[in-house]
Amino acid sequence: MSNDPKLNAAIAALDFIEDGMIVGLGTGSTSAHFVRQLGERVKQGLKVKGVPTSEATRNLAEQHGVPLLGISQVTAIDVDVDGADEVDPQFRLIKGGGGALLREKIVAAASKQMVVIADSSKWVETLGAFPLPVEVTRFGFSLTQARIQEALRATGCSGDEVALRIAGKSNEPVITDGGNYILDAHALRIPDADALGAALKGIAARANRHSWNQRRR
Ligand code: A5P
Repeated sequence: MSNDPKLNAAIAALDFIEDGMIVGLGTGSTSAHFVRQLGERVKQGLKVKGVPTSEATRNLAEQHGVPLLGISQVTAIDVDVDGADEVDPQFRLIKGGGGALLREKIVAAASKQMVVIADSSKWVETLGAFPLPVEVTRFGFSLTQARIQEALRATGCSGDEVALRIAGKSNEPVITDGGNYILDAHALRIPDADALGAALKGIAARANRHSWNQRRR
């Protein structure tokens, strides 16, 4: 055991990796430990292929000798190993603090199993102190921002500020690997995470329904 809880979490995840597996590679500092550890195992002869969830992870995996596949080269991933920003007692998560959430979700959804590596600082009774990242298309983002605010209020969250994520001191919005913006929802406390999740997913469904109805008129 090391003195670094993130490294320990990453090392523990190696137990889930077997020869021949296709492995989803998460993003963030805990996942970076995992990628480096996996690279060590590859040097010792482990045969795996990684599917990275971000360009940062792709670069790191290349540096550490982990063979890679692109998401379009796989039909299924055996196990996805990724970090989290908050974990509640029902194992519901806030993820995406590192700005890679859309690709992280796509890789997780394609995986038979997901191993979340999180040190004890990530455990919370109620989600929400960590701002909830929502990746959105740039087109119409301020409308989406208002809809997210409504969703926070409608589901009883303590806060309703929704901020466009800005890159460092540049004053420019962060652009994700997929070319999108990130809106950070400062819910502060999320009393019903399932309801908020459904309300957020409903924003896209509502937009689709609306444009379909418009087309039929
Ligand atoms: C990246 O977008 C995130 O989902 C990370 O997995 C999450 O932010 C955890 O990051 P750390 O491992 O750096 O704490």
